[in-house]
Amino acid sequence: MSIFNVNPVSTGDYRRLAKRRLPRFLFDYIDGGANAERTLLSNSSDFEHYRLVQRVMKNVENVDTSTTLAGQKAGMPVALAPVGMAGMFARRGEVQGARSAQKLNIPFTCSTLGICSVDEITAATGEPIWFQLYMLRDRDVVQSLLDRARNAGCDTLVFTVDLAVAGLRLRDFRNGMLGSNPASKISRLAQIMTSPAWVMDVGIKGKPHTIGNLDKVVPDPDDLNAYKAFIESQFDPTVTWDDIAWLRSIWPGKIIIKGLMEVDDALAAVNAGADGIVVSNHGGRQLDSVASSIAKLPAIVQAVGGNTEVYLDGGVRDGTDVIKAVALGATGVLIGRPWIWAMAGAGETGLCNYLSTLQKEIQTTMALLGVQRIEDVTAEVIEAA
Ligand code: FNR
Ligand code: LAC
Repeated sequence: MSIFNVNPVSTGDYRRLAKRRLPRFLFDYIDGGANAERTLLSNSSDFEHYRLVQRVMKNVENVDTSTTLAGQKAGMPVALAPVGMAGMFARRGEVQGARSAQKLNIPFTCSTLGICSVDEITAATGEPIWFQLYMLRDRDVVQSLLDRARNAGCDTLVFTVDLAVAGLRLRDFRNGMLGSNPASKISRLAQIMTSPAWVMDVGIKGKPHTIGNLDKVVPDPDDLNAYKAFIESQFDPTVTWDDIAWLRSIWPGKIIIKGLMEVDDALAAVNAGADGIVVSNHGGRQLDSVASSIAKLPAIVQAVGGNTEVYLDGGVRDGTDVIKAVALGATGVLIGRPWIWAMAGAGETGLCNYLSTLQKEIQTTMALLGVQRIEDVTAEVIEAA
């Protein structure tokens, strides 16, 4: 930003602010994707395969962006995606994210791997949030996690299934995020020393840096290598559809299955009793070279859209992207990096401003498409580019 350019507005503006403020290894952890980042790139660029249809001379005085997501009223068809360690990017980041979502009346999703525990978050909002689960080998730990989420008032469980093993994010190797050798440690320290605003906000005022929901399970959560070791040892690569039946038996609320890209998997999720699914490739952080999520959305909607809610995430960067996903049949979208960039770059006020802008973009786009309600955002408002 220069003095002629004082107000961050777009996702890219907030990304730049976040880049300036965060130690490089943390910025890259958020920003990067797996391997050559092909999928990361196409998640956003494939929205360009669609164009919106301009219509005129319709009364659009009362455009309403509100809708229903997983049975709750929401101010727009957007939810904040689960992001691990959000509290490392801004002080008690999950709480800031949840409060901002509450202001805009949209769902917030608490990651299994959040810095703030689910009860710390709901104590701050006084409202239920969505809880995201990674299946762990130790099912007693899973049971206690779910009990904790239930006791905090959560009704909607987002079960993520696309992390059988962690994808290879090369930036994390390159910048020393994952190394325990002296060179990596010195590099991380240098990156931290050159980020004084972050040191004050997160490093000092943002403690404790434990993984709140798992503070009794991760041996030394202040050490990023302990976090990595935990993922490697506890993430359960043996999970199959049979485990959904077990989850159903212990979770009385809604279950949304996140991380599906194929029609067959979407059908299996519906058969397993999912109340919703998220078409997602984990923001390009898992299987590189898999298709973009927007490319996969139409076929999945066609196959299961009548039987379950279909959400999309990956590459949504502005209001037109939201409208395109809804026009292709999504109930709503989740955004991951954008909310983190806005919060890390400009704090809770920045995140609220960002979300308000997103809502304005959705509203303006609807008006110029000639529609007033989210249910009128249908295939008629979109065409192939
Ligand atoms: C994620 N994502 C993720 N998903 C999940 O189910 N549990 C998690 O803990 C995390 N952690 C996480 C950390 C970071 C830094 C990022 C960027 C992403 C994936 C996330 O929920 C979502 O699927 C993608 O971020 C969507 O893509 P966009 O919006 O970032 O392009
Ligand atoms: C990630 C894991 C934590 O994408 O979901 O980094």
